[in-house]
Amino acid sequence: MTGNKNFVLKGNICYSEDRNLLRTVEQGYLVCLEGKSEGVWKELPEQFFNLPLTDWGDKMIIPGLTDLHIHAPQFAFRGLNMNLELLDWLNTNTFPEEAKYKELDYAKKAYQIFADTMKKSGTTRACIFATIHRPATELLMDLMEETGLKTMVGKVNMDRNSPDYYCENSAEESVRDTEEWLEHVTKGYANVSPILTPRFIPSCTDELMDRLSRLQKKYQLPVQSHLSENQSEIGWVKELCPASRFYADAYDQFGLFGGKVKTVMAHCVYSSEEEIALMKKRGVFIAHCPQSNTNLSSGVAPVRTYLDQKMNLGLGTDVAGGSGESIFRAMVDAISVSKLRWRLLDESLKPVTLEEAFYMGTLGGGAFFGKVGSFLKGYEFDALILDDSSLPHPQPLSLKERLERFIYLSDDRHIIGKFTEGSRIF
Ligand code: GUN
Ligand code: FE
Repeated sequence: MTGNKNFVLKGNICYSEDRNLLRTVEQGYLVCLEGKSEGVWKELPEQFFNLPLTDWGDKMIIPGLTDLHIHAPQFAFRGLNMNLELLDWLNTNTFPEEAKYKELDYAKKAYQIFADTMKKSGTTRACIFATIHRPATELLMDLMEETGLKTMVGKVNMDRNSPDYYCENSAEESVRDTEEWLEHVTKGYANVSPILTPRFIPSCTDELMDRLSRLQKKYQLPVQSHLSENQSEIGWVKELCPASRFYADAYDQFGLFGGKVKTVMAHCVYSSEEEIALMKKRGVFIAHCPQSNTNLSSGVAPVRTYLDQKMNLGLGTDVAGGSGESIFRAMVDAISVSKLRWRLLDESLKPVTLEEAFYMGTLGGGAFFGKVGSFLKGYEFDALILDDSSLPHPQPLSLKERLERFIYLSDDRHIIGKFTEGSRIF
C-alpha cells in the first residue's frame, strides 16, 4: 500500500459512534486508506506496519466539523448591529451588505477573508449561502476550492419582498442566471459543489419555486433554505401562502423538501408537530443555529425533541446571525441554550449533553455529506489535530474531560492540523 492517502496517525483519539456514544482512545492508532478511515485501534494491527506513521504525542485527534448553515457574504458584518430581530435585521443590515457583492472587487476582498478564516477553523465541511450574483458566487467557489475544504455553495434566489437594489427582476431571470451558473460550475471543482438556495419562502414567488424545482430535477441538486426561525416570519408565510398547512408545506408543494431531494433547513425553532413529522418522514436535515437564534432573539429550538426522534440534525453558525464561524462555539451554545429552554420553558425536555453536542457538530451534520464525521470504518478521512498544551490544568484529566475543556476554551490557534478526505490542509 502506497500513496499519500495511506497513513497512520497516533494520538488521543475521540469520535462519535452514535448520538450518545463518544469513543475515546488514549494513545490510539487511526488508519487512513485511500482517503477513508479504516478504523481506530489501541494496538496497531500488523497489516498496517508498513504505512507511514505520524506520532502526534499527547495531542488529540477528532473528526472534522461540519457547518450546515453559513452565509459567506455576511462574514464582513459579523458582530455588528445585533439589536434587531430577523426581518428588520435583514432589511437594515443584511440586504445592503449582500448587495455589495455585485462588485467583484469588493467580493474578492471580502470572500478572501472568509475563505482564509474557514481554512484555519475546525470546519472541514460547510453548506454556504452566497448572494444573488452569479460572478461573485463563482469567485467564492474558486476561493473555497483552493482551501481544500469540502463545501456546497449556493447562488441565492430571491424575486419578491426584497429591496429594489437587491432583488432579481423576475422568476425567469433568476432561474436563467441560476442555470448559467450551474452550467459553469457543475464540472471543474474537486472540493466544491452547487446547492440550490431559495433564500426563504417570503423571498420567492410560486413561479420561482416551481422553476427551481424543475432545475433541481434536471441537475439533481441538494437544497438549502430557512424554516420556522422567527414568529413574525412564520406569520408572514401564513399570509403569503394561505393554501399551505404550515411553513414546510410551502416548500413541500414544490417538491423541495427532502425525500429524494437532499435538503437542509436552518433553524426550525418553532416547527409544529406536523412540520416535525414531515421533516422526519422526508429525512430533512435540521441546521441548529443556537448563536444566531440568540443574537436575533428568535428563540430556542426544541433540539431534545429532534435528538429523541432520531432526526437528521447538525449545527450551523449562520454567520452573521451567529457572530463567529466556530462550530466548537456552536456546540457550547447548543448546550447552553438547551439548559435555558429546560429551566424556563419545558422541564420535560432535558438539556443537550456534551456527547450530543459533539455528535451534532461532527457525525450529525457530516451525514449531509455522506459518510462523514466519524472515524468508524469507511468514513471519509476528515480530521483535526488539537493542541491543548497551552490550556494547562493542575491535575491529570481524562481524555473526555480534555475534549470538553477544548470545546469550551479553545480557538483556532489550538487547531494545529487539518485533513479532508485524507489530504492535509495544514
Ligand atoms: N432568513 C432569510 N434570510 C436569512 C438570513 O440571511 N439569515 C437568517 N438567519 N435568516 C434568514
Ligand atoms: Fe441563515
